[in-house]
Amino acid sequence: MKAVILVGGGGTRLRPLTYSMPKPMVPIVNRPFLEHMLTYMKRYGIDEVILALCYLPDHIQSYFGDGSDHGIRLRYAIEERPLGTAGAVKNVSDYIDDTFFVFNGDVFTDIDLNAMLELHQRESAKVTIALTPVENPTIYGVVETETSGRVKRFIEKPGWDAVTTNMINAGVYVLDPEVMEQIPGDWFYMFEHGLFPSLLESEEPIYGYGSNGYWIDIGTPEKYMNLNFDLLSGETSIMPPGKEHGGGIWLEEGVTIHPDAKVVGPVAIGRNSTIDAGVRISGPSVIGPDCFIGAESYLKETLVWQNVNVGREANLQGCVIADGVSIGDNSAVPRGCVLGQNVSIESNSALSPETKAMPGESLPSSEPTRS
Ligand code: GDD
Ligand code: MG
Repeated sequence: MKAVILVGGGGTRLRPLTYSMPKPMVPIVNRPFLEHMLTYMKRYGIDEVILALCYLPDHIQSYFGDGSDHGIRLRYAIEERPLGTAGAVKNVSDYIDDTFFVFNGDVFTDIDLNAMLELHQRESAKVTIALTPVENPTIYGVVETETSGRVKRFIEKPGWDAVTTNMINAGVYVLDPEVMEQIPGDWFYMFEHGLFPSLLESEEPIYGYGSNGYWIDIGTPEKYMNLNFDLLSGETSIMPPGKEHGGGIWLEEGVTIHPDAKVVGPVAIGRNSTIDAGVRISGPSVIGPDCFIGAESYLKETLVWQNVNVGREANLQGCVIADGVSIGDNSAVPRGCVLGQNVSIESNSALSPETKAMPGESLPSSEPTRS
């Protein structure tokens, strides 16, 4: 079974993280987002994936290559300029010969793809769209269906006055190859504004496959953090990498934790990272590979990427710290902060312990604790 993944977007809402890294490569518990996605797809017998790329394609190609290290065949199609979601699929039509899946490259889900494909075949649909319930449908594509599941209306990002259901386009489709004839070639064209409304207009059979399975679009920093926390807490079908050492603490090779440090799971720590004396890490948190967390620092609900250096007595809470960041002694990074690649925060020797505590938070006691 073949699938196309749309990975051409600029990931603007995830800036600064996506200034030098495309959205599919942002780490989710120490592995690129796309790697988790491929793991999920392989479970359903998808053995060939065509990646429709545009923004920073080299990052993805150099990490995944021909896919052989990941047990899947990968092909790449690079758009010189964005062709839109449907145009990007038309652009790879030479690789497609049968019914196939299309995935938005920023949704993580455990929707049952076998059941979805069965519905598509049973109803002889031209397109089947996975649907998921959300609280705020106005930021997605809203899909109205009849009780049979047949789609009546597709409205992309409607105002609240046009919202008639909480079921939205989950960004996973089954497509009959015939529909590609209706996508203009070498032209910017979207499924959401173009192909779906146009197929509905001509009364072609489009079906919705509703699911209550896990689903998230990682397009914003808040949702990006949520997926990391959910994966760590066992709420998705993917396990954190490394070996579990009890209490939801997942360690990869070469991790050193000082006996006077305290780690409260769920926490994952990447290879060759060092946690110094008196450090307290409170989960859900992730420390990437090759990091150093300096003595007496406190980290809570924080995502630290690769090769990050945190000085002594730093206080990091509810934040994302990208590759190569350096955080000086006594610095505080508050909730909601996203530090882009290679940012440097100077030491702050003037701060007293009281001012380092975040509003509404008290620093943990300094009694010695053991992990
Ligand atoms: N190759 C390619 N070329 N990919 C593209 C292009 C393009 O021109 N434009 C967007 N993409 C990719 C993005 O990289 C992303 O993986 C996916 O298409 C969807 O684009 P987003 O920019 O993330 O769209 P959205 O989240 O606002 O809305 C879409 O997803 C929602 C579900 O998360 C729509 O499909 C909505 O209808 C849907 O509900
Ligand atoms: Mg999106």
